[in-house]
Amino acid sequence: MTNEQYYELIKPYEDAVQVMLTRLEILNHSIYTRDASKPVHHMQNRIKEKKSMEEKLERIGVTDSVINAKDNLMDIGGIRVICYFQDEIYTLVEALKRQSDMIVIKEKDYMKNPKDSGYRSYHVVFGVPVHALDAMEYYPVEIQFRTLAMDFWSSMEHKICYKKDRENKEEISRQLQALSNSLALIEEEMREYIKEA
Ligand code: GTP
Ligand code: MG
Repeated sequence: MTNEQYYELIKPYEDAVQVMLTRLEILNHSIYTRDASKPVHHMQNRIKEKKSMEEKLERIGVTDSVINAKDNLMDIGGIRVICYFQDEIYTLVEALKRQSDMIVIKEKDYMKNPKDSGYRSYHVVFGVPVHALDAMEYYPVEIQFRTLAMDFWSSMEHKICYKKDRENKEEISRQLQALSNSLALIEEEMREYIKEA
């Protein structure tokens, strides 16, 4: 893939990410009422870098071309939505699913079923309608919904596991898993204070 092809490829994905960010912003302030505060703490977004696309295509064993990137990469456009609590994430996901022009392409609930690492998050790839002059096409946008506690854990785990050359790997992995469980309990406990208030 040339640089020119890459920049041409990502254009509609940038548009799709913007559309999705706006939908999320609207939901965030419309859920906010007298008895519920805004569910979103903050959002991040990114377009997959060229090098990262090439590595992923190599990993899945297809040649590095625009068509293969389009067909195989569901996370060219990515948004991370950091909420306070887990139930707010389900509320946001359900509200997005009710939007009749959005389609769900892929969904993984790592909150109900955490990964063996202890990773918790809700991953969903939406097909987002992008209207050009005379045609509409769906572009995938991957959203990772996490609570503050889940995001804290993921960031720390990423930092810790990035240092790959250690002896006591299994022990660290067990401890990280236990910390993930502890954080989930702490989050639940703090949720109770909000409900009572
Ligand atoms: P890839 O996108 O190819 O990695 O695989 P996949 O389609 O199976 O995606 P998956 O649902 O596993 O999510 C991949 C993304 O989730 C990664 O890019 C990370 O951002 C995040 N992730 C998944 N597992 C972990 C984990 O154990 N620790 C951390 N810190 N992040 C994780
Ligand atoms: Mg991915």
